Amino acid sequence: MTRKFGPKPGIEQIRPYQGGKPIEEVQRELGLQDVIKLASNENPLGPSPRALEAIRSAAKQVHLYPDGNAYYLKQALAEHLDVDPSQILLGNGSNEVLQMLGEALLLPGDHLAYSDQAFVVYDLIRAIFGAKATKPPLREYTYDLEALAEAVRPETKIVFIANPNNPTGTYVRRNELERFLDRIPETTLVVLDEAYFEYVTAPDYPNGLEYVRQGRNVLVTRTFSKIYGLAGLRVGYGIGRPELISWLNRVRQPFNVNALGQAAARAALEDQGHLEKGRRINQVGMAYLEEALRSLGLEVVPSVANFLLVHLKRSGARVAEALLRRGVIVRPMGGYRFPDSIRVTIGLPEENERFVAALREVLEEVEQTAP
Ligand SMILES: Cc1ncc(COP(=O)(O)O)c(C=O)c1O
Repeated sequence: MTRKFGPKPGIEQIRPYQGGKPIEEVQRELGLQDVIKLASNENPLGPSPRALEAIRSAAKQVHLYPDGNAYYLKQALAEHLDVDPSQILLGNGSNEVLQMLGEALLLPGDHLAYSDQAFVVYDLIRAIFGAKATKPPLREYTYDLEALAEAVRPETKIVFIANPNNPTGTYVRRNELERFLDRIPETTLVVLDEAYFEYVTAPDYPNGLEYVRQGRNVLVTRTFSKIYGLAGLRVGYGIGRPELISWLNRVRQPFNVNALGQAAARAALEDQGHLEKGRRINQVGMAYLEEALRSLGLEVVPSVANFLLVHLKRSGARVAEALLRRGVIVRPMGGYRFPDSIRVTIGLPEENERFVAALREVLEEVEQTAP
C-alpha cells in the first residue's frame, strides 16, 4: 500500500488566520497613498519615544543572539507586577504563550471550554492540537460564565476567558469571575487573557493577578502589542504558578523573544506616562465614535477596550471593502459569525473623523440586508 504524504488530521480544516490588512498591501493593491489602519487594535499613538531610543541602541547588537531567558525584561516585569520572575513566561506575542499551552498540556481529544464568539486563536489552538471544545454562546455580547461553568467537566484541561473579549469589547465582572473560579476544578487551568488590561478603567473589572497570587490554577496573559504600542516586535507574557511556567519553558523555542523586543519592552514599561496618554486618547475617541455611529443609526456594543463592534444591517465584508477603497482599513466580522458587523479600532481624532466620513458615504452605497 502506498502511503500518501499529508498533514495531521484536522489541519486542512483550519481556516488560516486573517489579520488586518497591512497598510502597504492596500497602498500597493489599490494604488492609494493615504491609508489608515483601524483593524488590529494597535495603539494609534505609536510606541513610547523611550522604547524607540532603546531599539536604536539595541540595534547595534543584532548580530548577537538575544538573552534566551530575557533576564532583565523578566526582572522589570516582576517588579512592575509584584510577582516572582519564576511566575513569568515570555512569548513572541501573547499568542505564542497560548500556543505553548497547547504544546505542553494538550493531547488529541482533550477537552477545552471557551465562548463561541471569543478571540479566534483559542479555536486555532484546539484545531492544531486535535482537542475538542464546548463553546457556549455569549449572553448580551458578553462571556456567559454561568454557561461556561456548566460546560466545564472534571477532565476539562483549559478554559480560555478573554477579558475584555475580542471582538465584542465586553468584560466579565469581578464577582461573576470569582463565583466562576470557585466552581472550576483544581485540575482545570483557567486562562485569563488580558491583552487589553491597561485600557480598562471600570471599577468592577477584575485584575487576574489576584487569582494567581491566591495560588489558583490560573494563567494571566498580557501583551506589549496593544497599549504599549509594540505590536510589530511581538512581545507578550503569561503569569502563573512557577510549576506551570517551568513546563511551558520546556517547550519554548530558545530565543523566542527578539533582542529589540526585549529592549523596547523594558523601556516601554518605564514610560507609564505614555500609557496614560494612550488611555486618554482612547477614551475621547471611544466617546466620539459611539456618538457618531449611533447618530448614523448604527448599533454599537459598549466596549471597555480600544475597539468597537459595529452592527451595520449590511454585509460587514462589503462595507469593509468599500471603506478600503477609501483608504480606511477595518475588520469585517464574518469570521466571528457577525456577518453584518465590522470591528473598528479607536484611532487618533483625525482618523476617527475620517472613518466616520467614509462610513457615512459607504452606508449610502451598500444596500441593507433583508431583515
Ligand atoms: C484577546 C486577545 N488576546 C491575545 C491577542 C494576541 O496579541 P499578541 O500575540 O500580539 O500579544 C490579541 C490580539 O489581537 C487579542 O485580541
